[in-house]
Amino acid sequence: MRLLCFSALAALLISPTHGLRVAASQSWIEHTPLVYAIQNFYKGDTATLVNGGVASLSDKSIDVGANAETQGLKNYASHKNYRLIGIIVEVTYRLVANKAAGIKTLADLKGKRIGTISGTSAEVFVNQLLSSAGIAKGQYTLVNGQVCMRAPCGGGTFPAQFKSKAIDAFGVWETAVQLGIDAVGEDNVVVFKNASAYREVYSLYATDEKLMDAAARKKIVQFVRALNHTYDVFRNQPEKVYSTVGKLVGVDVPVLQKVWADHVWGPGSLGDRLLSYLEYEEQYLSKADRRTAFTRAELSKFVDPSVYQEAMSG
Ligand SMILES: *[C@@H]1O[C@H](CO)[C@@H](O)[C@H](O)[C@H]1NC(C)=O
Ligand SMILES: *[C@@H]1O[C@H](CO)[C@@H](O)[C@H](O)[C@H]1NC(C)=O
Repeated sequence: MRLLCFSALAALLISPTHGLRVAASQSWIEHTPLVYAIQNFYKGDTATLVNGGVASLSDKSIDVGANAETQGLKNYASHKNYRLIGIIVEVTYRLVANKAAGIKTLADLKGKRIGTISGTSAEVFVNQLLSSAGIAKGQYTLVNGQVCMRAPCGGGTFPAQFKSKAIDAFGVWETAVQLGIDAVGEDNVVVFKNASAYREVYSLYATDEKLMDAAARKKIVQFVRALNHTYDVFRNQPEKVYSTVGKLVGVDVPVLQKVWADHVWGPGSLGDRLLSYLEYEEQYLSKADRRTAFTRAELSKFVDPSVYQEAMSG
């Protein structure tokens, strides 16, 4: 075990030219199965994790990238060769509101100051959640800020703004929301979520060219197999990974445990349920990004279940 970890770490550091190269932002809980899969289950030559995401696929040395479906769709708009090949985790984002601001129901968020990060999945989430209660864009004020992964949270972060009442509510990925709840006190806040209105579908992407290149595809299929084993551990034996995940993203384990249930670890179906969800998100996103919404046919081309199917049949 010790030896295995050491060689996996060496693989992460050496960065060979011919091994698998995986791009993801390394700050968030969502990316941690990528690390776990490389360290524990990947049977290919070597695998290297670099900072980036789906946009990194324009660099031909990158084999796969990971990001929320929101960034996937944004990038697909200018790169029709990008493919969503698997779901790593689905996360029901949460919005926390201060009862002291007179908020009991979603409808009470009208006219309030709501923290989120523009241009990201978090902004899409806030919009989709509020519009599920009939509140339109422009009927609330969006306030930018930073996330926080571990208390104490500094000045510009959402939990600090929430505590000082600079904002009435905020919605973003974890663990910031949990830290906001903890900062103000569970009894003083109300938490909203709605997985049909918005859930993050954090996914794995590759280019069509890589998927048609036999050698690259083989590595990608092996990696998807390693991820499949990883999901099993994350889902069924979380106590085995809490400490690793906590260390990787700088989160305290008790906080991680509180948000774990909102994370549904892969693989997730790439069928109609996903396509309908993307189609629904596109109604908002295409308007926000001032482009034509992808048709169902275009989305069916974007989502490619063949890699996962090949991994599972091999
Ligand atoms: C959740 O969101 C969906 C989609 O916007 C909406 O139809 C549904 O009423 C919402 N559920 C609740 C409990 O608000
Ligand atoms: C995928 O993972 C499941 C456990 O979740 C395991 O039973 C199955 O054998 C795995 N499939 C492959 C192809 O490795």
